[in-house]
Amino acid sequence: MPSLLHALTAASGLSRRKAFSAIREGYVTVDGEVRTEPSSEYESGLIALDGRLLDTAARAHVYLMLNKPPDYITTVSDEMGRRTVLDLIPARLKAPGIHPVGRLDRDTSGLLLLTTDGDLTHALTHPRFEIEKEYWLRSATPLTDQQVAQLRSGVEIDGEPRRPLRLRRLIEAEPFQTSITIREGRNRQVRRMLEVVGARVTSLRRVREGPLTLGGLPEGAARALTRDEIEALRSAERPTKRGDGLRGGAPSSQRRPSP
Ligand code: URA
Repeated sequence: MPSLLHALTAASGLSRRKAFSAIREGYVTVDGEVRTEPSSEYESGLIALDGRLLDTAARAHVYLMLNKPPDYITTVSDEMGRRTVLDLIPARLKAPGIHPVGRLDRDTSGLLLLTTDGDLTHALTHPRFEIEKEYWLRSATPLTDQQVAQLRSGVEIDGEPRRPLRLRRLIEAEPFQTSITIREGRNRQVRRMLEVVGARVTSLRRVREGPLTLGGLPEGAARALTRDEIEALRSAERPTKRGDGLRGGAPSSQRRPSP
């Protein structure tokens, strides 16, 4: 069950420290009752901050970002008893119905969103919406110019030509060498695209999904999204006419992105 502090942070966009003080100092009510214990359970009810009712959508749902380490399965529960991404979510952030938005392979690390908001999950994972996903990868040997050219011109995955929206070499991003951005989310798409051109991915990390980046979130850690981040995600839901991935191929850049 989420705490009042968590619910207030998610609904108001305040930092945890400011939300904590607001509760302690008596500025927060639930259904008109003043609540001064930040760690008390919050299930439902109208939260007001200094008399102002907070946004219902943000209040009702939980939105989290996890920096997934390798060796965790992207599922709510695993029949074979393997470790799942839910095992990494602290009890204070969990809520009934929380589930991963899309999936990362067992071996892939990085940014994974989790939410109780099925509408947002649908919007972010439906091919029609084509949310950008950026991955940093390391391959056994750095990509050759020929492999880069081949990827940019499109490779066949599941019988359809796919090419990255952007592909660029990274500098100062040890151990990663290449950034690749795609819009679709076919099963193991990045690894399979690389396989087609004869490169073997040795590590893969998602550093961005739509407008959200991992930032300094340590591997294995989870945090609630801020209200601004939730709104940015909602406005990134951009239906497009075609989801065939035959776009992009922007020129290579030597700039290092900052996730
Ligand atoms: N592409 C992959 O190959 N693996 C992932 O986990 C995500 C995208």
